[in-house]
Amino acid sequence: MLKDFLWEILTYGMRWLHVVAAIAWMGFAFHTRELERKTKPRDAMPEGAVGEAWSIHGFGFYRTVKYLVPPKNMPAYLIWYKWQAKTTWITGFAMMALVYYRGAELYLIDPAVFALPAWAAIALSIAGLGLSWLIYDGLFRTPLANSETAIVTAAFLLLVVLAYLYSQLFSSRGAMMQMGATMATLVIANIVVVILPTLRNMVAGLSSGLPPPAELIARGMQRGRQNNYMVLTIVFMMISNHFPSAFAPRYAWVLIAAVIVIGGVIRYFFDTMHETGIKLRWPWGVSALLTLLLVSFGAFAPGSDTRLARRMDDPARRGSGDFTPVKSVIAARCSMCHASAPVWPGIASPPKGIKLETPQEIRIHAAQINRVAVLSHAMPPGNVTGLTDGERATLARWIAADAEAGEAVKP
Ligand code: HEC
Repeated sequence: MLKDFLWEILTYGMRWLHVVAAIAWMGFAFHTRELERKTKPRDAMPEGAVGEAWSIHGFGFYRTVKYLVPPKNMPAYLIWYKWQAKTTWITGFAMMALVYYRGAELYLIDPAVFALPAWAAIALSIAGLGLSWLIYDGLFRTPLANSETAIVTAAFLLLVVLAYLYSQLFSSRGAMMQMGATMATLVIANIVVVILPTLRNMVAGLSSGLPPPAELIARGMQRGRQNNYMVLTIVFMMISNHFPSAFAPRYAWVLIAAVIVIGGVIRYFFDTMHETGIKLRWPWGVSALLTLLLVSFGAFAPGSDTRLARRMDDPARRGSGDFTPVKSVIAARCSMCHASAPVWPGIASPPKGIKLETPQEIRIHAAQINRVAVLSHAMPPGNVTGLTDGERATLARWIAADAEAGEAVKP
């Protein structure tokens, strides 16, 4: 018990560090984009400068001046922005290990998708991260890299293929997290392997008075643009697992592909607006259309949870609101975790504070039970306790009957 409690504290602390580092990184990334756009040629700039911007914050006026060529006096002290991205990745991987690897059969594996043993799922996840980078990086060594459209399309197709593969191997929640981790790995590797060495090269070139090769800089900037398009999507993926998704597990890749496009398109909208002042209309159309596609996919795809829920809602299958079978289903499939003293290994306290031991506790949570165990398959996680469709129907009948009787089943 103490051990479980300590694990929980560790996970919580790591999550906090991860979020703090990610906020520092995103803030820096947004600030950098802003400076790039706003440092423009102005009157009375210092000699050799290509742009200048003034800002006010922290009770002071700041003057940012941009140089592409060696400044007359190379400063002895140069601020580097490295720890934010690196810390985000390291703590993120630690979270992945603490939550998804340590609790692989709860979060990473869904036997209805693929009955992988925990060690195999973990090995596939880690190998996937490394391999994806090798393939992604390889794309930039082909002629595809000469065309912006070609390389963006190739990178996108690679991500869709990966999402498809992962959705055939992992639970939908696991596939989503694995894709988030994959994209985060690509972004960090772009920084550590390509962008930072280019910057170091620029500094070396500046110190020796030589401009760095233009081709090197162009390659670094290309990676920077890719990162720019991926970050919003990554944040979306990282927080998506806190919502039980109503998605057909086998089609998680469709959701992932659409989310990547929506994230990129929204980023494109803002970039264009800030650079040219033009508010493009098509990104909204594309985003709306894709969102619609997603919602209908959730509702109509074969094996979809929502479709299952509708079937269970069939009046012919509706019985009485008898509570006795409900109590046994919950006791057999949920209470080992959702109790004041959970007996499931690794669960120290009732998850999200939800206890399902007494009839009263079960009734209070009826709407939530409906959301996670009837309308979706979010619970039990990875269906570890083997909740059957028949038992889900029992829960559905009780909730429907209660709702008809005007019982308090509030969202
Ligand atoms: C193996 C342990 C386990 C079992 C069995 C289990 N749960 Fe959970 N439950 C969890 C965990 C862990 C979370 C928190 C998930 C998260 O952090 O996203 C959770 C979260 C929930 C939530 C809150 C969801 C939210 O985010 O609002 C509800 C409701 C819930 N479970 C209901 C159930 C029901 C109903 C059953 C039985 C059909 C069940 N659980 C079986 C571990 C379990």
